[in-house]
Amino acid sequence: MINKGFKFIDLFCGIGGFHQAMTSLGGECVFASDIDKYCQQTYFENYGIKPVGDITKVKAEEIEPFNVLCAGFPCQAFSHAGKQLGFNDPTRGTLFFDVIRIAKHHMPEYMLLENVKNLAMHDNGNTWEVIYNTIQSAGYNVLRAPVIFSPHFIGLPQNRERVFIMCVRKDVGDIPEFYFDVKKKDLPECNLQSILLEDDQIENVEKYRINQKQIDLINLWDDLIKGVKCDLPGCPIYGEFLHAPSENEDTTGWPTWKLDYLRKNNAYYLKHKTFIDSWLERASKVEMYQNTRRHLEWQTYRGEDESMWNHIMQFRQSGLRVKRATYFPALVAIVQTSILAMRKRYVVPRECARMQSFPDTFKMNPDDHIAYKQFGNSVNVEVVKLFAKFMFGDEEVRRKYTRK
Ligand SMILES: C[S@@+](CC[C@H](N)C(=O)[O-])C[C@H]1O[C@@H](n2cnc3c(N)ncnc32)[C@H](O)[C@@H]1O
Repeated sequence: MINKGFKFIDLFCGIGGFHQAMTSLGGECVFASDIDKYCQQTYFENYGIKPVGDITKVKAEEIEPFNVLCAGFPCQAFSHAGKQLGFNDPTRGTLFFDVIRIAKHHMPEYMLLENVKNLAMHDNGNTWEVIYNTIQSAGYNVLRAPVIFSPHFIGLPQNRERVFIMCVRKDVGDIPEFYFDVKKKDLPECNLQSILLEDDQIENVEKYRINQKQIDLINLWDDLIKGVKCDLPGCPIYGEFLHAPSENEDTTGWPTWKLDYLRKNNAYYLKHKTFIDSWLERASKVEMYQNTRRHLEWQTYRGEDESMWNHIMQFRQSGLRVKRATYFPALVAIVQTSILAMRKRYVVPRECARMQSFPDTFKMNPDDHIAYKQFGNSVNVEVVKLFAKFMFGDEEVRRKYTRK
């Protein structure tokens, strides 16, 4: 295991998901960088360190020596990486290059990088090849395949699959295969309640309430779910497809999936015709339904006594997405805040902080939009801790995540 008092740097630091994890393992932050002024503010408020701005402008020699480099680098500019492979340095011009530039100058013992899941498949795997080869030739051991992991695999109530890249300097040690069976039956249960606040603990809770129009829309879909005893078509319900098959429907140029949804919704309509006819009558009086929110994505199980009001949902552009209340869908930076239907309100920023395993002492930006965005961009602290421990050689964690 790494010695307490190790020094780390936090690149693309955001609000410090890595910072939280590394300091809890005994690390000391000696440098942080983020170009966003609100992240800089939040970081300073919490850790007393003012992150420097654009990392591309920072000379590596300006940073003091350190043992661990952390970076949840933005995932841009990889599109041509694969194609350029073999001609010149394909990572040049991307922010990943800046990570490597700093690493090559300082040669820290460890690097822990994080990125979106898509990085693993991007450009038919070429992007990953470039990253893997670049890290290797910079002098680090790194696992051959990218590791994808989510907080809900360890009982934390958020589904957020991300790529984690553990790098150990070649003279420091090897890095054993990280093994985790996602299909394991005994995955820990996620407990949503563990992160929810009671309404009376929320300042100005009314601000987060859903409005009457949203309630009307949820009630409308709830009527449908109950009326058909939770018999659903196996694809999203499209209000505009709830009619008998019609030869007059102009489907020219429709993709196959849409034709399939049309066929399934038409058949579904015929199966429950009497009920759906009366339901459509009611729907015509519900304002949000009329204003294009006519889709229902029911991503949960279908017990006969289901109610919409027991679930987590998101109002999306075209309709409502409903999920089982076990864990949250990934927080995202573009605000599409989840609704806790059972509480008739949106999740509040403090609950988002908890979703990312930030402590309740964390000082959030007072502007909710900024706070939601910052947590949506951040990384889950407990998951970072897990990978850091594995990378540093913590025996217990290595035993747990090794193929038996
Ligand atoms: C995915 S977020 C990382 C969040 C962070 N891991 C956390 O726990 O909050 C990427 C961050 O990179 C920052 N960024 C983008 N371009 C940058 C640049 N040229 N220099 C420094 N930071 C940059 C963004 O402002 C953003 O906060």
